[in-house]
Amino acid sequence: MADLSVEIAGLRLRNPVMLASGILGETGSSLVRVAEAGAGAVVTKSIGAEPREGYPNPTVVELEAGIINAVGLANPGIAAYVDELKVAAQAEVPVIGSVFGKSEGEMSEIASLMEEAGVSAIELNLSCPHARNVGAELGKDPETVGSVVSAVKKSVHVPVFAKITPNVTDVVDAALAVANSRGDGIVAINTVKAMAICPETGRPFLSNGIGGLSGPAIKPIGVRCVYELYENVDIPIVGVGGILTGKDALEYLMAGAKAVQIGSAAYYRGIEVFGRVVEEIGQFLDEYGYESVGDVVGIAHDEN
Ligand SMILES: Cc1cc2nc3c(=O)[nH]c(=O)nc-3n(C[C@H](O)[C@H](O)[C@H](O)COP(=O)(O)O)c2cc1C
Repeated sequence: MADLSVEIAGLRLRNPVMLASGILGETGSSLVRVAEAGAGAVVTKSIGAEPREGYPNPTVVELEAGIINAVGLANPGIAAYVDELKVAAQAEVPVIGSVFGKSEGEMSEIASLMEEAGVSAIELNLSCPHARNVGAELGKDPETVGSVVSAVKKSVHVPVFAKITPNVTDVVDAALAVANSRGDGIVAINTVKAMAICPETGRPFLSNGIGGLSGPAIKPIGVRCVYELYENVDIPIVGVGGILTGKDALEYLMAGAKAVQIGSAAYYRGIEVFGRVVEEIGQFLDEYGYESVGDVVGIAHDEN
């Protein structure tokens, strides 16, 4: 049996398949359930300084090729979420705390409270395509990305990952800013800015109008981003976007990701998707004679 364990910025994972932020990460017990279902690590919903209701319904529209959401970063705020993190600590895998905020000071503060509550790493959400006035789109400006990463790195000891947006001309600029600011890894990608209109009403489906597309439609975009990042940055990359199967995950690994995250597939396939994708990666590696998951990382860049 091929070795499925991976190491990212000092975090040891039993397998490379994580839960993505925003799906099933609202409570500590749902994070524990995803770990029990086979994930190698779990990421919390993005948490801010204060409770936020998010946008009115409808906030999610399911299309054939994917899901468009504009939830608006609804979350209970860090003070209340600390209790959920205590429950999540029962998970037998690393728990990664996702943070959003208006400023580097706010994000540093939340990250440090999460570290105190026991998370194994921080993921900075610098890339939500539909949240207004909360700094989530600050990932578009590489200089701001760099200063946020530097500030958060100074306030915690655990590894800090930055989740970057695909909604820019060149994803490499923000990634270089993360690496130059001593960020420990890059998570790519967040959702792709999108819209759906209901022909009967002549209005956008979502209350916010614009949302973020996830699911199978964005996999080729995510794989392309990871491929470009691998060629240009030396820190670890975590690939996310449209993964439903083991072969989808392998595309990301071969493009250069050390690990992957799964979000929307939990809607399409249920929580069992985590165990199944891990099993399918293992079967593929055995069938093609690879000894470990690390053996396939980045092989799409090989000359022959
Ligand atoms: C309903 C929903 C809520 C999300 N909330 C967050 C969030 O709070 N923070 C974040 O960084 N990403 C969030 N995302 C983005 C996902 O983590 C992921 O980057 C994206 O959906 C692509 O992966 P997928 O195709 O496997 O879903 C959300 C996605 C969905 C569908």
